[in-house]
Amino acid sequence: MSTAGTDSVAKVAIVYYSGTGNVHKLATAAAEAAEKAGAETRLRRVPEFVDGSLAPVFTEWTQAWSEHAETTKDMPIAGIDDLEWADAVLWGSPGRFGLIAAPLKHFIELAWPLHARRGLVNKVMSSFTSTGSPHGGQESTILSLNNVFYHWGAIIVPPGVADDIQLAPSNGNPYGVSSVSGPKAVPGRLAENVTEDNMAAIEYQTRRMIEIATALRRGSAVGSPG
Ligand SMILES: Cc1cc2nc3c(=O)[nH]c(=O)nc-3n(C[C@H](O)[C@H](O)[C@H](O)COP(=O)(O)O)c2cc1C
Repeated sequence: MSTAGTDSVAKVAIVYYSGTGNVHKLATAAAEAAEKAGAETRLRRVPEFVDGSLAPVFTEWTQAWSEHAETTKDMPIAGIDDLEWADAVLWGSPGRFGLIAAPLKHFIELAWPLHARRGLVNKVMSSFTSTGSPHGGQESTILSLNNVFYHWGAIIVPPGVADDIQLAPSNGNPYGVSSVSGPKAVPGRLAENVTEDNMAAIEYQTRRMIEIATALRRGSAVGSPG
């Protein structure tokens, strides 16, 4: 953990993959919250590594996927240097069969050399997701990220139910903020089921992560990896 500039707010990277815009919408709200909290912030997308033919029979999904890809194509792409730079990383992925999306996993595997030099030890990590169904594996998706963080020796900061916003009907997952997109991805109405309460919850989760990462940065309570 960097001890330079110990009075300053933790540096935050928001690293996410989104196929049809739900996670993207939450990630954008998180970036705004981080900037509002005074954190130097990098919002970084992990790119797709297949084309829309992933789901040729699901026409609406494919159209929504194409629309999202087009509207976000100029956004900065995540690099391993973003992980090295950040004190705290907020991760976002849709749930896919109860796990994170493959492109995000691929990105994580590219962080192996950084992990091998202990470059992720004591960094603060927090995660959020979006799934089609409330019982479609939100917790297991976030746990699949947490497994990675254990290996890194990182510090996991969940939202818990440490704020009333987590008690709102469309919130409530203490592992990480989670939205439910429903059965269809509809072009022109991307991410319409991300609720105002989901947006408020991701702001809260971001603030909480920054508060803890900033306290660690200022206190330098945890030693640098040796
Ligand atoms: C290959 C694939 C697997 C999926 N698996 C799940 C799942 O296990 N559970 C679930 O509830 N939704 C599942 N979904 C739906 C997505 O999680 C959901 O549409 C999510 O809101 C998409 O987020 P995005 O718009 O950021 O891509 C899956 C979607 C795809 C394309």
